[in-house]
Amino acid sequence: MSTAQLQELTAAGTLEEKILTRQAKVGIVGLGYVGLPLAVEFAKAGFDVTGIDLSDSKVGRINAGYSYVGDVADSTLDPLVKAGKLKATCDFSAVADLDTVNICVPTPLRKTKDPDMSFIVSACAEIAKFFHPGMLVILESTTYPGTTDELVLPMLEQGGLKAGQDFFLCFSPERVDPGNPKYNTSNIPKVVGGITRACSEMGRLFYSQALLNVVAVSSTQVAEMVKLLENTFRMINIGLVNEIALMCDRIGINVWEVIEAAATKPFGFMPFYPGPGLGGHCIPIDPFYLSWKTKQAGIEARFIELAGYINGQMPHFVVDKIQNALNDAAKPLKGSHVHILGVSYKKNIDDVRESPALDIMLLLKRRGARFTYSDPHVPQLDLEGEALRSEGTELVASADCTVIVTDHAAFDYRAIVKAAKLIVDTRNALKGISSAKIVLL
Ligand SMILES: NC(=O)c1ccc[n+]([C@@H]2O[C@H](COP(=O)([O-])OP(=O)(O)OC[C@H]3O[C@@H](n4cnc5c(N)ncnc54)[C@H](O)[C@@H]3O)[C@@H](O)[C@H]2O)c1
Repeated sequence: MSTAQLQELTAAGTLEEKILTRQAKVGIVGLGYVGLPLAVEFAKAGFDVTGIDLSDSKVGRINAGYSYVGDVADSTLDPLVKAGKLKATCDFSAVADLDTVNICVPTPLRKTKDPDMSFIVSACAEIAKFFHPGMLVILESTTYPGTTDELVLPMLEQGGLKAGQDFFLCFSPERVDPGNPKYNTSNIPKVVGGITRACSEMGRLFYSQALLNVVAVSSTQVAEMVKLLENTFRMINIGLVNEIALMCDRIGINVWEVIEAAATKPFGFMPFYPGPGLGGHCIPIDPFYLSWKTKQAGIEARFIELAGYINGQMPHFVVDKIQNALNDAAKPLKGSHVHILGVSYKKNIDDVRESPALDIMLLLKRRGARFTYSDPHVPQLDLEGEALRSEGTELVASADCTVIVTDHAAFDYRAIVKAAKLIVDTRNALKGISSAKIVLL
């Protein structure tokens, strides 16, 4: 047996044993919507987990047992912290004592729609300083195919260690769906692919200790592409249904009824719903990681560009709807008061990243309308430097027009319809309520 094969066996054997006996020290870098629930799952599975984040306030809150992520209850987090199973720090030197590290840092787009890799690069640079043999590193941040192999691997191998031999490196796409009552970090199947077969196997073994279903694939590139296929599929289908909504509006057909009836087909159709525009940290962004990468290979991602254009038109369409509805009521939009219900990008969560509500607010402002908002999940909001506060829903009575942008379950829709003068419903939240005041998307 060669020295390399022997090293591979030793590194794998030691880590495998630590993982199977729950002795492996688990690290999660980036404690946001993805990282904190993951840290909690591994702590619940009996591992000692250390979270590393740049934010003092997040670290302080975790160590005090308070969660800032909707899907993690204080009653889950606090006992894990008190039992010493989960702690957080801003200090990357903690990596020296860790056996595994999952990287869950942001991957936004630059203004030019190019991937911003700076968070991954800075996290890996810090990890590399305290990197040691026998570790398993898994990138979870959504990114373009090739990132783990081309960007992360050289940073970790620069000290002379070799992936698959001295350490293990994988990519695993995160599929968490904040606010989903049925699917969470533990029961969403987890795809993982490694740089070598030994890496994939180690990744599969690791996740299997805390998550219900793990799907190992042959490479990091396949795992990276899985996430982009899933989110591109969603983005394009939403683009299609938004275009159908624009068509139905023009020819006077209720698009919601059309989708509901089409969805009775038991095969070959999957319902997607139109809305005020795409939001969140994933669907509006991830497909552009793919188009950026394919452009370099000489392939234009035309479906992505087209769906991006149509989805980007939806906030404009909503504001046109508001303007037309007000015109029909003999009121100009300029100077009118529009009250917005819901500003997070989807229902029952507090995340406003890329939310179409922000675009709608800016468009209303540009057209001279006055606006207020109610959102039980978002008590305050920064709109390009302007600080806004959530108001009570009683404002619908005095507003010239109310617009439902996010269909939170907490709103009393019957009372809202009763009190409002005019309502534009971009989510079909008022389904089953009939009133001449309602204007559907
Ligand atoms: N939010 C989702 O629903 C979701 C779903 C699937 C995938 N993802 C992907 O997962 C990744 C993380 O997303 P998120 O929503 O958890 O982001 P987030 O902004 O909620 O959390 C990221 C955390 O990383 C920290 N951070 C940033 N740079 C760091 C660094 N260099 N070192 C340590 N910590 C650092 C931030 O302070 C923050 O707490 C992204 O790539 C995203 O696309 C997110």
